[in-house]
Amino acid sequence: PLVSAGEIVGPAAKERRGRGAFNVIQLEHVTAIIEGARRAATPVILQLSQNAVRYHGALAPIGGAMLAAARAADLGVAVHLDHAESPELVREAVALGFGSVMFDASTMDYRDNLAATREIAAYCHDHGVWVEAELGEVGGKDGVHAPGARTDPDEAAEFVAVTGVDALAVAVGSSHAMLTRDAALDLDLIARLRERVPVPLVLHGSSGVPDDGLAAAARAGMSKINIATQLNKVFTGAAVAYWRDHPERVDPRKYLGAARDAVAGEVERLLGVLAPGHGE
Ligand code: G3H
Ligand code: ZN
Repeated sequence: PLVSAGEIVGPAAKERRGRGAFNVIQLEHVTAIIEGARRAATPVILQLSQNAVRYHGALAPIGGAMLAAARAADLGVAVHLDHAESPELVREAVALGFGSVMFDASTMDYRDNLAATREIAAYCHDHGVWVEAELGEVGGKDGVHAPGARTDPDEAAEFVAVTGVDALAVAVGSSHAMLTRDAALDLDLIARLRERVPVPLVLHGSSGVPDDGLAAAARAGMSKINIATQLNKVFTGAAVAYWRDHPERVDPRKYLGAARDAVAGEVERLLGVLAPGHGE
């Protein structure tokens, strides 16, 4: 069934496990992610970024498909709007039935981020929607993987208290869209943030973090683990390999099916890394 991200991430935060939030590009990702979660016996978050909405040209066709798939699933599936910078898109997602949104004003300075996030959080809470915000800009969206910013624990505590957000994305050493999995996370900083911030913490740019780093981050207190690029690597790799081996099979269901199967396997594997021995 369709559940809210809070129902998945809240208990995980208490139990120091990570839950996967995987980015959807097209319908094959939706079915693959749900299948991987089913095999891992773990609830899962499907998320759609503002960029992916722009790619599709509209929210409703792909967003509606995500919601329908979540409602039909035999495990808990949340549908989340990721990296929304547009308040209009947030309102559209809320109206369509998304149970949670990430409002990303992380490129603004602290005061402006605080004010904009507080307003969106109030709107979402009026509509029963769970809100994630970001403080301390996780880099890499521009393709530059510099060591980057770090979130200050005191500022994070104040930010959550003033805005009322339900979860906070923090900068702890990862960077978006890395093709290599060699980012080193600052586990001490995660521990200090965990102490000071009363809501679940979210790791962005998780594809650049190796498996043991993801497991350590989950144990240290990162509860929602956002993964996009790693699935894209697996999807594209499987599609290309299939096509190379069978150039005569032009039906897209052949190579997209191979890609979908590979993504389901990778989702199952990653969910096991984030919460070892903890299905359910
Ligand atoms: O919001 C989505 C993520 O932060 C994904 O980052 O593509 O580096 O896994 P990634
Ligand atoms: Zn992100």
